[in-house]
Amino acid sequence: MSRFEYAPAPESRAIVDIKSSYGLFINGGFVEATDGKPFKTVSPSSEEVLAEVSEAGPADVDRAVRAARKAFDKVWAPMAGRDRAKYLFRIARLIQERSRELAVLESLDNGKPIRESRDVDIPLVAAHFFYYAGWADKLEYAGAGEDPQPLGVAGQIIPWNFPMLMLAWKIAPALAAGNTVVLKPAETTPLTALAFAEICQQADLPPGVVNIVTGAGRTGQALVEHPDVDKVAFTGSTEVGRAIAKAVAGSDKKVTLELGGKAANIVFEDAPIDQTIEGIVNGIFFNQGHVCCAGSRLLVQESVYDEVLARLKRRMSTLRVGDPLDKNTDIGAINSSAQLAKIRELSQIGEDEGAERWSPECELPAEGYWFPPTVFTGVSQAHRIAREEIFGPVLSVLTFRTPAEAVEKANNTPFGLSAGIWTDKGSRILWMANQLRAGVVWANTFNRFDPTSPFGGYKESGYGREGGRHGLEAYLAH
Ligand code: NAI
Ligand code: MG
Repeated sequence: MSRFEYAPAPESRAIVDIKSSYGLFINGGFVEATDGKPFKTVSPSSEEVLAEVSEAGPADVDRAVRAARKAFDKVWAPMAGRDRAKYLFRIARLIQERSRELAVLESLDNGKPIRESRDVDIPLVAAHFFYYAGWADKLEYAGAGEDPQPLGVAGQIIPWNFPMLMLAWKIAPALAAGNTVVLKPAETTPLTALAFAEICQQADLPPGVVNIVTGAGRTGQALVEHPDVDKVAFTGSTEVGRAIAKAVAGSDKKVTLELGGKAANIVFEDAPIDQTIEGIVNGIFFNQGHVCCAGSRLLVQESVYDEVLARLKRRMSTLRVGDPLDKNTDIGAINSSAQLAKIRELSQIGEDEGAERWSPECELPAEGYWFPPTVFTGVSQAHRIAREEIFGPVLSVLTFRTPAEAVEKANNTPFGLSAGIWTDKGSRILWMANQLRAGVVWANTFNRFDPTSPFGGYKESGYGREGGRHGLEAYLAH
C-alpha cells in the first residue's frame, strides 16, 4: 500500500524567540553560572545549535537551594492556600496563552512531532496546573491528615522525553502543597523549562519559589546531595534512580522515583481489530517510543497473530517520519545521538539473537537523528529486546494461547509501570487488571493521561505516585 503524498505543512517557527544564551533562573531572575561550563542544545532533527545554556555547578545549586529555602520560610509556606492557588491558576492560563509558542519550542528542542506537542504535551501541562491549583486550598482533604504540612525544598530532576510535561508533573503538586522547588531539566531539552521561568516572572510568582538550574548528571547529583533539600523527585533511567536512592539513604530526604518500563500490550482474539491496530501504533510509536510506559512488548493471542501482524505492517507503512514541525508528521527525530546509538545497538542485538526485524520502506532525512518504525517477530522471553527498555520506535512481538499464559508473560519482567488489554469482554478486562503487576492498566486504549489519575510503578519501575490526590501526598508531611 502506498502512502498518500502530502505537500509540506510546516508550523512556523517565527512564533518562538530563542535567545542565543541562557543563564540560570535563581531567586526570580536569570543569573550567570559561577562554576560551570556552558553547553549547547541542538535540534535533533537538524543538528542545528538552538542556544547555549549554562551549567550549574555545586555553588550554583547551593545558591538556588538557599533561594528556595528563604522563599519557603518567608513567603510560600505561610501563604494561604487560596492565594497560592491564584498563582497556579495564573501560570496555567499563561501556558494556554503561550501554547503555540511552547509547542513549537518543545518540538524544536526535543524532536517530537508538532501534532503531539500541540495536542498532547502542552494541553496536559496546562491541565496539570489547573488541576493542582484547585487543590491548594483543600489540602486537608488530600488524605495526608487534618492539617498536612509541606515538606520544604524539593529537588526535582526530569528527563528529555516529555520536557515540559514532566516539569508540570513535578512543579504543580509541589507548589500547591506549599513547597518550593529547584528543578533541573535534562541537558538535551532545557528550553521549555527556561520559557517556564519567564512564565513565572510574568505571573509575578514570588522570587525563589521556582528555581531552574540547567546542566547534566553532575548538576543533578549536586542537587540530590544538597543537605538542605527535603525531598527528591526523579524521573529517568533505572540506573540513575538506583544511584539516587543510594545517595539519599540514611538521610531524612523523602524520595519518589519514576523509572523505566517494558509494558505488555495484550491482544485477545475478540479484540476490535481496527481500534487495536491504532492502539498498538500509538502504544509504541507515540513520541518515537521515548515513553517509559510505552507498549513495547506486544503479546498477541496465537489465533489472530497472522491477521494482527499483517494489518500492523500495513498501518506502519503509512506512518510519516520526518520534520517534527510538519503537521503531517507521525514520527519525529530521536532525541540525541546517544539515544540513537542505544536503539541501534539493542536492535542489532535483537537480530543477532535470532529475532526477525521488519521496517516499512521509508526515506530518512540526511541530517539529524532518525530511526524507522521497527517490529521484531520471533521474539522469545529470554531475548534482550523482550526484557530491556529500548526507548525507541521498536516493538517486540510475542504470542500466547490462554489468558493465564498472557498474565504470566506480561508479569515476567523486572519492571511494572503499565500494561494494555484489548478484548471485547469486560469480565476479562477486570480479571486481567487484577493479575497484572503494573501501576497503570489501560483497557482498549493506551498512553492515555489525565492529571486526576495517579501514575507510577511496581518493582524496578520505581516508587511513589504522581498525578491525582496521590501525587499531592508525595509533597506533604503526614
Ligand atoms: P538519565 O537517567 O541519565 O537522565 C535523566 C535525568 O537525570 C537527566 O536530567 C540527567 O541529567 C539526570 N542525571 C543523570 N545522572 C544523574 C545523577 N547521577 N544524579 C542526578 N541526576 C542525574 O537518562 P538518559 O541517560 O538520558 O537515558 C538513558 C535511558 O534511561 C533511556 O534510554 C531510557 O531507557 C531511560 N529513560 C527513562 C525515562 C523515563 O521516563 N522513565 C526518561 C529518560 C530515560
Ligand atoms: Mg544519562
